[in-house]
Amino acid sequence: MNYSDKTILITGASSGIGAATALELANFNNRIIITARREDLLKKIAGKIIAAGSDVLAISGDATQESHGREVVQKVVNTYGDIDIAILNVGIGPPSNTLTAPPDKIKFCLETNYYSFIHFFCPLIELMKQQTHPCMIAHMNSQATWFGIPMQGDYTAAKAAVRIFVETARMELKHFGFKHIRLQTIHPGFVDTKAVQDDGIPAVNEISEQEAAKYVLKGLKNEMRENIFPPATKWATKLGKIIPHQILTKILLAQTPKAY
Ligand SMILES: NC(=O)c1ccc[n+]([C@@H]2O[C@H](COP(=O)([O-])OP(=O)(O)OC[C@H]3O[C@@H](n4cnc5c(N)ncnc54)[C@H](OP(=O)(O)O)[C@@H]3O)[C@@H](O)[C@H]2O)c1
Repeated sequence: MNYSDKTILITGASSGIGAATALELANFNNRIIITARREDLLKKIAGKIIAAGSDVLAISGDATQESHGREVVQKVVNTYGDIDIAILNVGIGPPSNTLTAPPDKIKFCLETNYYSFIHFFCPLIELMKQQTHPCMIAHMNSQATWFGIPMQGDYTAAKAAVRIFVETARMELKHFGFKHIRLQTIHPGFVDTKAVQDDGIPAVNEISEQEAAKYVLKGLKNEMRENIFPPATKWATKLGKIIPHQILTKILLAQTPKAY
């Protein structure tokens, strides 16, 4: 999908991969809507987007609240008329331990990774069904979505839930004849963002935020169903899906810290 002169919504764009993607897309004369809770950071990113030549709308709010998604989509429609591309990127993945984590912490992880997606997906699909031109919703998933990973039990479960939801939605778009709506799942490997620095989770083949953003743009352009990057991690993950479970467990545990 062409990503110039488009209206593009990016959630979770105050930092990390979301902010880097917004700044990359700013070079292509777009109308970019950025959301997150930290208003001060959003303002800084908005300034850089304008300096790069795109128009910007910064809307702060908490994506775990259902009303936030609905209000943002409505505001964008009021301002720009429609939405061409939405990159739903909000997510957290702090280290956790399935044997000690309290239910509240696990629930918060699910709310931030799963419901923050749902709260935008529902009003976006409602809108895009009325539009007739090609449009796309892309979800920032992870390669930690296909199997359990020590220290990331709640995170992998939440990302897997979104992956399965999107897979089903893709089938139903086809079934009900909405050929102009594309759904994409983005699966980064390890990306060196502030959020994951010093979190103690082993990070092999880590790439920078800017590299990740370039991969995101490539995925949009080529309308990939699944955009999995970087290649080294992609092939390791593919292998992880087919090797016997005992071997996978051994490999993962060999890299897991003794205590956490
Ligand atoms: N870094 C990696 O290695 C990696 C790998 C694979 C996938 N991912 C995925 O990539 C996405 C971005 O992660 P990142 O590493 O770039 O971390 P990040 O810099 O912390 O980005 C997360 C973004 O989501 C926003 N956010 C978090 N909770 C929110 C809430 N309740 N309401 C609204 N906005 C919220 C944050 O902004 P505020 O705090 O200002 O609200 C921030 O802009 C996540 O979905 C993550 O799971 C990351």
